[in-house]
This record gives sequence, structure tokens and C-alpha cells, in this order.
Amino acid sequence: MKPLLLLAFVFAAFNARAADPAPVILAVKAGHLVAPQSGTVLADQLIVIEGEHIKSVGPAATLLPTLPAGTKVIDLGNATVLPGLIDCHTHVTSQPENFYEDIFRKSPIDEAITAHIYAKRTLDAGFTTIRNVGADNYIDFALRNAINAGKILGPRMLASGPALSATGGHGDLNRMSPTVHVDGINGIADGVEAVRKKVRENIKYGADLIKILATAGVLSEEESVGGPQYSFEEMKAAVDEAALWGRKVAAHAHGTEGIKMAIRAGVASIEHASFIDDEGIALAIAHGTYLVPDIYNDDYILAEYGRLGYPENILAKERLVGRTQRENFAKAVKAGAKIAYGTDAGVYPHGWNGKQFRHMVKWGMTPMQAIQSATTSAADLLGWKTKVGQVAPGFFADLVAVSGDPLADITLLENPSFVMKGGAVIKSQ
Ligand code: ARG
Repeated sequence: MKPLLLLAFVFAAFNARAADPAPVILAVKAGHLVAPQSGTVLADQLIVIEGEHIKSVGPAATLLPTLPAGTKVIDLGNATVLPGLIDCHTHVTSQPENFYEDIFRKSPIDEAITAHIYAKRTLDAGFTTIRNVGADNYIDFALRNAINAGKILGPRMLASGPALSATGGHGDLNRMSPTVHVDGINGIADGVEAVRKKVRENIKYGADLIKILATAGVLSEEESVGGPQYSFEEMKAAVDEAALWGRKVAAHAHGTEGIKMAIRAGVASIEHASFIDDEGIALAIAHGTYLVPDIYNDDYILAEYGRLGYPENILAKERLVGRTQRENFAKAVKAGAKIAYGTDAGVYPHGWNGKQFRHMVKWGMTPMQAIQSATTSAADLLGWKTKVGQVAPGFFADLVAVSGDPLADITLLENPSFVMKGGAVIKSQ
């Protein structure tokens, strides 16, 4: 292109931007506003929004008269407003329908084509941000990119891509004939060099974080549920390599020893943390490692997975995990470990992400702590603590509202009546 022509283009682009209308100002009036950053609830607040962000927050009586004439005010009456909720452990691209069908009849195309439905359900449930920890074939990257481009509606997303797994591990297809193989882009990587390469590959194609499968799992057919599946060296390699690229590592770990190895290797979060012992809790506290315990899951798996055709060996593993995970969650809460809200939605229906709150309260958290786990703490784990998780100036205008007091009845968070993402109303009942 000739320099003059190029200049003309640059001017045209500049002028187009200069002619853009000023960002819309909008205000939301809230009878009550939960401020997880201070653990308080404020009365009669006005949230002033400019474009996608919050401009100011303060007493409605003071701020209302300062609004430019004609500003649209959404009056939520006596409702309680909270920051948009954050789920740090989702698999938003899929949902189980039938064990056999899911493995042998569905292709990645089937998964990709329905992922947007689950993203929208998640957003409608008030989860305006998610950290998706594990999706093969990079479907989560495509979903995130389409959401970011405004092509489809969904939560803000951090995406890990395929979870790194040892051969025969939780991310592998086990107990099949050795001649059965499923094609696709997966996260199988063995040995320090292969692990480093897989981390690089995931990042090359779009990973915001790295997920590793540190120990065995429930919904896979390897024998144990908690056995270590990566060596310390492999996990350390994943953490070091991810750090070079500015990424954190989330480790799926049910097992007592694998949890400790992963913490010592420097992961940012332990997912599930089912068989964590006192030493593991102390280590997590000392290293500042977040625990992300999916303590609703058990109810759904035991109630529905037989019907979905899951083999008995998998159901038996769930029976080993469920209650112990909840008891250990209670111990971790009591000890003061850092806990971020993560549900494993995708193991159960998307949109039900809020069902875990009541379990967290039942097993030892105050309602405010449970809310903090899904707002300020989750944002901290994501590395987004100046962007999401608070209703405060400079943060994204991501809001949910419930009619009633969620501190008195935490189940209200299961179905918010109002959801806003980046200043756009998603749902208003
Ligand atoms: N994705 C996890 C796994 O397969 C689900 C564990 C669910 N059970 C539980 N009690 N949290 O290991």
C-alpha cells in the first residue's frame, strides 16, 4: 500500500472513532448493595455506569441529582444487588446426556454447536464470569472468542483448553480395548518435556490458564479416585512453564498426597480437594493456594448418573468422595484456608451453578463468606481482582439482584431476578 493511501486509511479510522457517540450513562438504584470487599451491606445505593464500567457508587440521595438530564435509571426497588457471580470451575462446553452416547456417538462438532446454549444459561444464572477448566479440541477458546467479539451472549471466560493428563489418567479414556482410540486434540502429556510442550501448545492456541490432572478422578474409569497421576517434577514443569508465559495452573486433585505435591509444585488452586488432610490444609494456607471444592456435585451424580448409564465403578468412586469432601471442606473453612467458588458445572446442568451456595453455608461458611468466595476471592484467583467481583468504580458493570436478603436465605442466589453484564441487561424479571 502506498504511504499516502495508508495515511488516508489511518485518518479515516481515527475520524470514525472520534465520531463514535459518547458511552451511554445508565444508573441502577438498589435498595441494598452487598459489598463483599468490606463484608457489608449498604442501603439505598446508586450505581452509575458508563459504557461497560462502573463510574461511581454511593448513596442514591446524593448521586441522583448529579446525573446528566435524561439518564436512564433502572430502579430495582427493595432488591439486593451483588457483584456478578464467578464460578472458578466449569466445563461450559458440554453436559452429560448418556455415558455411551457422549463418548461414542458425539463428535467435537456436536459439542461446539451447543456450547453457546450452556454459556447463556450460565450467564442467566448470574454467573457473569467463569474459569473453564478443561475442554478438548479448543472448543472453549472458540466459545470465549465469540463471546468477547459480541457474537454470542455468555459470561466473561478464562479458558484452559485441554487439561493435561498422564496416559491412563483422568483425562484419558480407560478400560477400553487397546485398539479403541478417540481422535481429537487432548491434553495427554507424559514426562517433563512433553508437559512443557503441551503447556506451550495450549497457550499458543489460546489458553488463559493451565489445568493439570494431578490425581485420579471420579468420572473416569481408572481404578483409584485419589491416586497421584503426575510426578512432582512434571507438575513443577507445568507450573514453571506456565509462569514463563504469565499463566497460572489449576490442579484437579482429590488425593491426599497429590494435593500436597501440587501445592509444593506451586499451583494456584487445588480443584476438588476431597481427601485433603490437616497437613494439606496447612500447606495450602502457607503457600496461599486456593481450594476450589465442588461440594454440590455429589448430590447430582448419585441421583442421576445411574440413569445416564454411567458404569457402577464410577458411581462407587463417587460414594467414596462425596461426604468426605464436604467434611474436609468444613475443616478447611475452619482453619481459614483460601476458598474460591467452583462448581464443576457441566457435570450437572449449566445454570445450576448457584446451587452450591447452600452447601457451603451448611458446611461452615457464613453467607457473606460464601458470597466472597464467588466474588472477591474468585476474582483474586483469576488474577482479575481489579476488574470483577466488586461493585466499585472502574470495575465491569456486572451485577445480579435478588428479591430478598441473601444473607438470610442464601438459596436466593440460585435464581437471580436481574442480571447485567458490562452495562447490558441480560435478564430482568
Ligand atoms: N470432575 C470430577 C471428577 O471426575 C467430579 C467429582 C465429583 N464429585 C465430587 N464429590 N465432587 O473427579
